[in-house]
Amino acid sequence: MTKSAKLTIGEKVIDLPIHSPTLGPDVLDIRKLYAEADVFTYDPGFTSTAACESTITYIDGDKGELLYRGYPIEQLAERSHYLEVCYLLLYGELPNAAQAADFEYRITRHTMLHEQIHYFFRGFRRDSHPMATMVGVVGAMSAFYHDSLDINDPWQREVAAIRMIAKLPTIAAMAYKYSIGQPFNYPQNHLDYAGNFLHMCFAVPAESYTVNPVLAKAMDRIMMLHADHEQNASTSTVRLAGSSGANPFACIAAGIACLWGPAHGGANQACLEMLREIGTVDRIPEYIRRAKDKDDPFRLMGFGHRVYKNFDPRAKVMKESADDVLGLLGIENNPTLQVAKELERIALEDEYFVSKKLYPNVDFYSGIILDAMGFPTSMFTPIFAISRTVGWISQWKEMIGDPTQKIGRPRQLYKGEKTRDYVDLRHR
Ligand code: SDX
Repeated sequence: MTKSAKLTIGEKVIDLPIHSPTLGPDVLDIRKLYAEADVFTYDPGFTSTAACESTITYIDGDKGELLYRGYPIEQLAERSHYLEVCYLLLYGELPNAAQAADFEYRITRHTMLHEQIHYFFRGFRRDSHPMATMVGVVGAMSAFYHDSLDINDPWQREVAAIRMIAKLPTIAAMAYKYSIGQPFNYPQNHLDYAGNFLHMCFAVPAESYTVNPVLAKAMDRIMMLHADHEQNASTSTVRLAGSSGANPFACIAAGIACLWGPAHGGANQACLEMLREIGTVDRIPEYIRRAKDKDDPFRLMGFGHRVYKNFDPRAKVMKESADDVLGLLGIENNPTLQVAKELERIALEDEYFVSKKLYPNVDFYSGIILDAMGFPTSMFTPIFAISRTVGWISQWKEMIGDPTQKIGRPRQLYKGEKTRDYVDLRHR
């Protein structure tokens, strides 16, 4: 029996269907509201709005749960690896051995870029932020890969997805190398996905480079934790761009641009810079005070979340990884990690953070690990972008493949001027 809600507006009573999900809250279907009642709903920031139907990722913000195709992130982080998670997000099921081998083969053999794209980097200043370079180069991929632009061809959609997942690490590593004036490294097919990325970032022609398996495993785990996250700002950007029929490379470039913001994917860079600015444990109270001061725009970066009103499950796994990696690197007394742990302890006991349900999010500890690996803070969000590309492209494929899909076109609450006549300059 279909559930519904009755909405009374003046003399009108509108029947609105209610849809029940597999997990999470029911949704009120308002698609016919404007046609029948001549009113819009109003929800800036979409805090109460389901923009689409999806089967990919589920978050329970109160329980601190994150599922990729039903599998808890904790189990995947412990037992899976990034390319297997990519397969799961893209195709909906964990691969068997043959499927996993084929997928890894296809990704590995798409990691190189069209050689001419190397020249594209030369147009940037050396001190360009790697995110600026990535937005440019990923968007420019639509100028090089004409055989995977037709969004109506399922095969071309598949090729575009493989190319994006395979090439983002290469592009991010090139952006990094370019920013430090070192030569690009080509991908190495004998290395796994995370190890290949570390090699492309840190190898130099002057000496041989051996991937540290502990760092490669930590990088792979970071990538798994960031792979997808429901309809977050950058994923919604990719969906909205895709809804106009834009090619997949342009859509992912739009997602990268949105992720860059410090309220979103840029928070990992902002968080580590904040921890460094705090510097020592004794300065934490000053920053806690500023974070609570309504007149001070300062916020604790890496804290709070639109959905999680409990611990971000990714932050828990990341915190364990931070202890592992820094311990193995012999820097467990890293002052930044000490400040982070003390800041977390103090904040979680503070009434302001408790009452507003502000907990550490995925960005709170990730920067500490990446810093320990030798990455500059400017590379933190590019690494988030590499990881999230599979989520973006999976959500994009789901939307494009939906026969009911239409162009996204929100309306507004207009508070501007009523119609008025033009006044010639001589009368103004
Ligand atoms: C990501 O959406 C996703 O899924 C994103 C992400 C993903 O994987 O895609 O999880 C990745 O973006 C994680 C979030 C990274 N951002 C940061 O760490 C930046 C710091 N956090 C804040 O900017 C904020 O918490 C947001 C943007 C994350 C969430 O903002 P909301 O949901 O709009 O929360 P809000 O601004 O309405 O805050 C509620 C209250 C406000 O106080 P009041 O107006 O009610 O008095 O809490 C306060 C805020 O001022 N608050 C904070 C705070 N975050 C919220 N106060 C101090 N420090 C903070 N970090």
